[in-house]
Amino acid sequence: MKVAVIGGAGGIGSSVAFSLLRTDHHYEIVVIDNRDNMIVSHVMDLQDALSLGGATSVVGGEMSDALDADIVVLSAAVPLTLNTSRDIYLHDNAVIVGGIVDQLAAGGFAGILLLMTNPVDPLLTWVARRTGWSRERLLGYTLNDTQRFRTGLAQALDVAPQRVSCWVVGEHGAGAVQVFSTVTLDGKPVELTPDQRAHALDYAHNWYVRHVALDSGRTSTWSSGIGGALMVDAIARPTGEPFPASVILEGEYGVTGVSSSSPVVLGAHGLEKVVEIPLTSDESAQFIEGAAKIDELSRGLEGV
Ligand SMILES: NC(=O)c1ccc[n+]([C@@H]2O[C@H](COP(=O)([O-])OP(=O)(O)OC[C@H]3O[C@@H](n4cnc5c(N)ncnc54)[C@H](O)[C@@H]3O)[C@@H](O)[C@H]2O)c1
Repeated sequence: MKVAVIGGAGGIGSSVAFSLLRTDHHYEIVVIDNRDNMIVSHVMDLQDALSLGGATSVVGGEMSDALDADIVVLSAAVPLTLNTSRDIYLHDNAVIVGGIVDQLAAGGFAGILLLMTNPVDPLLTWVARRTGWSRERLLGYTLNDTQRFRTGLAQALDVAPQRVSCWVVGEHGAGAVQVFSTVTLDGKPVELTPDQRAHALDYAHNWYVRHVALDSGRTSTWSSGIGGALMVDAIARPTGEPFPASVILEGEYGVTGVSSSSPVVLGAHGLEKVVEIPLTSDESAQFIEGAAKIDELSRGLEGV
């Protein structure tokens, strides 16, 4: 399976490429970026790790090398700056993402687009309208929301995070919906005290703002790299297990034509099924409010 990582010299892209090398699957990996020397630097480094995993090749490339890819992982973006919301990057990243997607469309790209660039939901909604590609081929990366809730829950329960499971749906941002009814410990539903709920919510809600405020210049490169590679793997080697992703909804959760997160089943053609989880009326209202904001942001990009 050929995977092209566009934005591959960046923090997320290089971490996805590295994490794909760590699997035992025979990926052909092409890293593409407009920082030529940085691509050569990463590829020289990654090639020496090739024999330690299952991938068959890792090379630098041009946009034309992405056209026959099975999956394009797109993380190209403007550099991170101090901010409190991913939405500030909407216009500038739309210019980058739009330019890349237009080249893919003009070149006959027929694979799956896994968008990681933020703000992922309005950008993916806009890409869907711009390209007319089917929703099966359009996936947005949002696993981190669920992982952050999981970490916060594990801290609140004072247990290892592997023992906790949960789902976060809706917007990848302030409107994310942490669904407490899905929380389990060792596979069994668990009731949290108000303090435990507050801790988990605080951790999940404020992770992004706390991390950006460090002014480190880097995003969540390790978790997103592992997560992006897991998502590619869920397409390459489907398990039938639900995976969180932002996808264009077609009536699920009462939303149509807007990309938001839900558990989904992934397969060789991308999205196979949206697994709609039951929400309380408050959660449902929060989901719909988030989708309305995503819709409005994406419509503001018409003309880019
Ligand atoms: N969806 C998520 O959960 C999630 C998580 C973390 C980061 N992100 C987002 O992913 C994006 C990338 O983050 P990062 O840490 O890798 O940033 P980064 O600045 O390290 O990397 C971005 C890369 O894109 C490249 N680039 C810019 N324009 C390009 C173009 N036209 N063609 C090819 N390459 C181009 C840059 O040269 C750079 O190497 C950001 O938008 C970030 O917010 C999303």
